[in-house]
Amino acid sequence: MNSSHRRPFTNPRARHGFLGRSCSIVSVGAYVPDKILTNADLERMVDTSDEWIITRTGIRERHVAAPNETTSDLAAKAALRALENGGVRPDEVDLIIVATVTPDMPFPSTACLVQQKIGATRAAAFDIEAACSGFIYALEIGQQFIQSRTYDTVLVVGAEKLTTLVDWSDRNTCVLFGDGAGAAVLQSRADSHGLLATYMGADGSKGSVLCVPAGGSAIPASAASVQQRQHFIRMDGKETFKNAVQSMHAAATEVLRQCGLDIKQIKCVIPHQANRRIIDAVGERLGATPDQVYVNLDRFGNTSAASVAIALAEAVERGRIQRGDLILLMVFGAGFTWAAAVVEW
Ligand code: ACO
Repeated sequence: MNSSHRRPFTNPRARHGFLGRSCSIVSVGAYVPDKILTNADLERMVDTSDEWIITRTGIRERHVAAPNETTSDLAAKAALRALENGGVRPDEVDLIIVATVTPDMPFPSTACLVQQKIGATRAAAFDIEAACSGFIYALEIGQQFIQSRTYDTVLVVGAEKLTTLVDWSDRNTCVLFGDGAGAAVLQSRADSHGLLATYMGADGSKGSVLCVPAGGSAIPASAASVQQRQHFIRMDGKETFKNAVQSMHAAATEVLRQCGLDIKQIKCVIPHQANRRIIDAVGERLGATPDQVYVNLDRFGNTSAASVAIALAEAVERGRIQRGDLILLMVFGAGFTWAAAVVEW
């Protein structure tokens, strides 16, 4: 048990006279596909090196879904694990929210496909898209349904088959990404404060810095768009890096301020897993010690909306987080979008 969390903190929702009930993360679960792509494998595909990738990103390997394995397959497996860990039956789920930039198809939503795959026959279902920030955006949306008493059980999933958007001939981006899914079950539990504070931000003026240009209404798929490789991720790495550090730091500072918390009271910081140097820079600015910060991108790379969800599930499974601990989640992604949350576990 984290001793420092015993110091008083504020539940900002209570302070603001919020009358809704609290929302707890009852359980989490994650799933990554079996196939592992190592830096050595990438050395055989593009002009790169294990040394460059580790030094510049911290990534050693990433998981890659099989050709016939879809985002909804990954999402359904993570969802079933989260439900099992929480002792919640699929038919108890009222709402499924899937955060993804790699839906199985434009429609139906991946959330509807997950509903069918896990047998959550009573659940409403929809997707949200906030790129790498999607999981915390989805948590905040799910929380609203719990607090307003609209629903009792919400399943939130971050899932990506990101490798379908990767240009395997572009060494600037192909070394960064991986596939996977993480899920959380939200309910109101009297014994926990749950989500204490959340913050979401966006800056649409930076949309072109990190994007997939084609495949939507702006540039529908055509022979020309395929030939020009416009269906793959394009990123200005340096601009993304700079904004990621600034925005995650600002979002984290804001949620800590709302709760009246010092970073020392946080048992575990779980940042978006995009680049080790980004994580270290944000951690340093926040005054977090390295052992407070959870890092698993060396094994999974950047899995976008699944990133924080997988890390959270792993941290819980490995005993890094115990019930009652205070944790800080923070994310940044295309849009630009960013978000943070303080959770009493
Ligand atoms: N192997 C070897 N050399 C490479 C590779 C590679 N895989 N990739 C780039 N290089 C080269 C470049 O060509 C460049 O060479 P040059 O100097 O001859 O032109 C040199 O390495 C340096 O490239 P930089 O772009 O300056 O490298 P940088 O230190 O900025 O690292 C990186 C690049 C890793 C992409 C970094 O900028 C980064 O992590 N950015 C943020 C990514 C991120 O956070 N994304 C989050 C959101 S993702 C989402 O929302 C889907």
